[in-house]
Amino acid sequence: MKTIRFFCPATIANLSCGFDVLGLCLDKVGDEMIVHKTSQPGVRITKITGAELPMETENNVAGVAALSLLQQWKTDYGFDIEIHKRIKAGSGIGSSAASAAGAVFGINALLGSPFEAAELVKFAMQGEKLAGGSAHADNVAPALLGGITLIRSYNPLDIIRIESPVELYAAVIHPQIELKTSDSRSVLKQQVPLKSAIMQWGNVGGLVAGLYTSDYDLIGRSLQDHIVEPLRSVLIPGFHEVKNAAISNGALGAGISGAGPSVFALCKGKQSAEIAAAAMGVVLDQMDLPYETHVSAINPNGIKILSQE
Ligand code: HSE
Repeated sequence: MKTIRFFCPATIANLSCGFDVLGLCLDKVGDEMIVHKTSQPGVRITKITGAELPMETENNVAGVAALSLLQQWKTDYGFDIEIHKRIKAGSGIGSSAASAAGAVFGINALLGSPFEAAELVKFAMQGEKLAGGSAHADNVAPALLGGITLIRSYNPLDIIRIESPVELYAAVIHPQIELKTSDSRSVLKQQVPLKSAIMQWGNVGGLVAGLYTSDYDLIGRSLQDHIVEPLRSVLIPGFHEVKNAAISNGALGAGISGAGPSVFALCKGKQSAEIAAAAMGVVLDQMDLPYETHVSAINPNGIKILSQE
């Protein structure tokens, strides 16, 4: 195989209670990438459409992730990477993660898949580090593994793929403002009161239990964030109104998607997610704030190959 073209999905990190540890893979919303194997060694970013991003390999999240993989797997081949962005940077639905995960996925496939999907996460995390200053895995893991993932531990890296009910849908609204992950992380505190931590880990356990047992009420009750959301919500115009609109129109729960500014809601069924997305949109319409919405099932497969030759 010399060339592979694939879809790199958007993802929702944190899922309210699981800052830096929980993430979910979306369907349909995502970038496209093409990776070519070349006889010229090294990694080159040969084309980017849909966004203004650095072309130099060392300054590009896909490039850095690719180099990290190739440090572990020496080869005489080189790789040319094309990135066609559809996920906007600073949107909160894993734009940098899609590029980083895509680069390592494509190169791994062209090398004959020496690494398992979970092993690719640590390489893709280097792209996240370049993008936002922190090597978190809660977007790249669901992009690579699909479904909902839990980073049980970062050191050593231990990723758990969590089952989720088939009727679970996500509604996402993206107010058209850019919020850099580094800015959104800079408002966080390094210490957490024990009282907040107790509520938070109760909810993480509750959410995982609810997902495994298809207990939608438990999923909804567990979508709470006592630590990060209170600090970040001030960065998102109309956040509380948008969140309340989703919940009062039938969503199980709602919160900030990743580092924001997107807001997500989890819902039982596609129709319910469409209603929640529309209700969130009404709030931003009233604020005259342009936005995009996405309604998506949970994507169980992650990155999807579109063609290979
Ligand atoms: N867990 C990360 C954060 C995700 O919330 O900062 C960023 O996409």
